[in-house]
Amino acid sequence: MKKIKRIGVLTGGGDAPGLNAVIRAVVKSAFNRNWEVIGIREGFEGLLNISKAKKITTKDITGILNMGGTILGTTNRGNPFQHQVKVGNKVVVRDLSNIIVRNFRKLKLDALVAIGGDGSLGIAKGLKDKGIPIVGVPKTIDNDLKATVITFGYDTAVSTATDALDKLHSTAQSHKRVMVVEVMGRYAGWIALNSGVAGGADVILIPEIPFNLDKVCAKVKERYQTKRNFCIVVVAEGAKPVGGQRIVKATASASRVELLVGIGNMVAEEISKRTGKETRSMVLGHLQRGGNPTTFDRLVGTRFGTAAVRLIAEGKFGRMVCLRPPNIGSVPLEEAISQLNTVPLHSDVIQSGRELGICFGD
Ligand code: F6P
Repeated sequence: MKKIKRIGVLTGGGDAPGLNAVIRAVVKSAFNRNWEVIGIREGFEGLLNISKAKKITTKDITGILNMGGTILGTTNRGNPFQHQVKVGNKVVVRDLSNIIVRNFRKLKLDALVAIGGDGSLGIAKGLKDKGIPIVGVPKTIDNDLKATVITFGYDTAVSTATDALDKLHSTAQSHKRVMVVEVMGRYAGWIALNSGVAGGADVILIPEIPFNLDKVCAKVKERYQTKRNFCIVVVAEGAKPVGGQRIVKATASASRVELLVGIGNMVAEEISKRTGKETRSMVLGHLQRGGNPTTFDRLVGTRFGTAAVRLIAEGKFGRMVCLRPPNIGSVPLEEAISQLNTVPLHSDVIQSGRELGICFGD
């Protein structure tokens, strides 16, 4: 087995609370093995342009454990395998992955830790196929990777959403209003479901259960008929009506992901029209990606980071670390990206919600 002397670390995709905890764990556990660590800025983009790769020192990671964001920067645009390049007035798609392989060698890296969600892990798998010794760490507030029981970043996002619902209760009650809150999660309803149940929502709409507006409005009316006089509705950004579509906000830019925004507003307008109740809507948006990671995210992020370095020390490349309680395990990158983790319809959280009288729009 080749002796490891120097590894690289990068963060790709949307940021998530706990990224810095993972970076710190990777760097510290590598230092303790006398390895050097190169921080690659702005995800895989930093391997296309090596002026974005710099040695990490202990000073760089001091005090970052509880900080949101990522000291390495990140991007959810651009894929080296399908990179958009400007040629004259035209934008063409090119495979630049060979540049990454070349730069990996130029930087004299022995291994790479890629911290990211399904998009970044897909790129990691492509680079592994090109011979780069790489290990992945699962990150995303959406918790939509099947190969791990949980991704880091998700717990903080749910706490932020729950906190928002707590705050909205008092204003909803004071004004006898319906408050509709749109939360993130892309095609999975984890944030909406768990913050909704923990935050005492009356209606929860998730992508896994297409909703019927008549059912939603019946619940709203029931709240007022039974003199509760306010109503909290949580809508996942990827939710859609029965027979309808998700609301995708098209972007003119080169984003490789769909931007889902607007379903909360649509639901609020329909509730107002159909029930006559004063209704307000808000999009919680990127607040869910910000702030200090919870204890859970710091801890699991730290465990993921050290486990990733352990995989490198053992020569186990092409794998992603994952949470398999009570321990951290690992799976091949192929498996890591093969399945989306959506909320199972038989989830006991859904069952509990129904037994509490929460309406899921069905
Ligand atoms: O995947 C994380 C996430 O925050 C999703 O929940 C959301 O749909 C998307 O990223 C937003 O992306 P952007 O940062 O490009 O607005």
